[in-house]
Amino acid sequence: MNILTNLTRMWLTRSTKPFIFKSEYDQQLPFETCSNLGLYVHIPFCKSICNFCPYCKVLYSKEISDTYIDHLIQEIHLVGNQCSDKKKVTSLYFGGGTPALVANRISEIINALNEHFIITDGIGLELHPDNVTVEVLSVLKNAGITKISIGIQSFQNKYQRILGRKIIDMNSIKRALHAVPFETVSMDFIFALPKQTFDDLKFDIDTAFSLGANHIAIYPLIDFTFTDSNVKAMPKKEKRELLDSITTYCLNKGYSRSSIWTFSSEPEAKYSSMTRENFLGFGCSATTLLYDQFKINTFDVAAYCKRIDQQMLPSSLTLRFTQRQRMIYWLFWTIYSTKLNSRDFEQFFGVPLQKMYGFEFWIAKKLGFLTENNGIYTMTLKGAFYYHYYENFYTLSYINKMWSIMRKEAFPDLIQL
Ligand SMILES: C[S@@+](CC[C@H](N)C(=O)[O-])C[C@H]1O[C@@H](n2cnc3c(N)ncnc32)[C@H](O)[C@@H]1O
Ligand code: SF4
Repeated sequence: MNILTNLTRMWLTRSTKPFIFKSEYDQQLPFETCSNLGLYVHIPFCKSICNFCPYCKVLYSKEISDTYIDHLIQEIHLVGNQCSDKKKVTSLYFGGGTPALVANRISEIINALNEHFIITDGIGLELHPDNVTVEVLSVLKNAGITKISIGIQSFQNKYQRILGRKIIDMNSIKRALHAVPFETVSMDFIFALPKQTFDDLKFDIDTAFSLGANHIAIYPLIDFTFTDSNVKAMPKKEKRELLDSITTYCLNKGYSRSSIWTFSSEPEAKYSSMTRENFLGFGCSATTLLYDQFKINTFDVAAYCKRIDQQMLPSSLTLRFTQRQRMIYWLFWTIYSTKLNSRDFEQFFGVPLQKMYGFEFWIAKKLGFLTENNGIYTMTLKGAFYYHYYENFYTLSYINKMWSIMRKEAFPDLIQL
């Protein structure tokens, strides 16, 4: 697995140099000149911990979460004060963990961000199904949240049991969503669970839209080595058949595909914290992507607060990109939206896509992964499957390695991928 990702990395970056993450970081972040900048805030608290979940999270306690948010607001000011004028940003996403657990402090965090940034495309936040009540939704809406994403996983009891999640009360979710509407209501599902069929997923998709969702995200289960999950991922062939069937079903229903895993029933319904050219991340484990660097905050809540107390950024590791590495990063996440405009590449890097990766795009067209119309590339069903297949390798060899170290060490010296 590692051999495949290493060879691909060497080929695409035209270098044997690995991705080197070092413990150094910039206290002054060069984001003032970044265009198309997004914001991300990580809230690492959950009422119970799911054994399949790889994200940075700890058990919720009011005391710890209040202390954390006091420090988070300080981090926002530490970074925000580096900009002389208010900086225009696209979107803001709250992820976790379960940010809705701290619903009553979300407006404070947004106010702190509003002192430094002008958010133009709305604010998204993740909820656990237990948080979908009229009371919590109203607090979030009043704080300025415009998009919500609910971690359903499955509406079927048998799969909730396999995943160790609670059975979902569909009626109460429907009532709450009806009473407090949002521009985007997204629901997250996990697919490729043992013996799962297309009919199971059709039921989940139909139920989601009938309860009030206008956007769904259906991710395959990823079996991270450091989690305690004993649920095994489905074999490749079955997974591909399921992915193709779900996609064809959604497209025939008239839903549009907004990324490899997401479909929307209304054009304005969007929820994606990944497909942005540059972003600033705040909180434990949050990442920041700028023109020439990628940095990751510490995963450790106590170490995070300690750094902020010293008026230092809680950055744990920084990767300084070579130009080709940055291009690969850009291409990987842009094509995730299933569409890529070669003019956007040229605008971002100042050099034509054709000149840098003409051969690779020619092959991808020949293999039937992409189609092209006037410099706009669109991913085919086959391309989407192989992207997923490769993403799975990438996740297991890169993200799995990095997160398994970051969970154990607050500030590792060096990670090479
Ligand atoms: C931060 S959680 C969503 C909000 C809330 N904490 C919850 O669980 O309902 C993000 C989503 O990641 C997905 N996820 C977590 N672990 C996963 C795994 N091992 N493979 C695929 N998706 C996973 C789940 O669908 C989950 O809803
Ligand atoms: S899936 Fe959601 S609730 Fe479960 S541990 Fe992960 S972040 Fe927490």
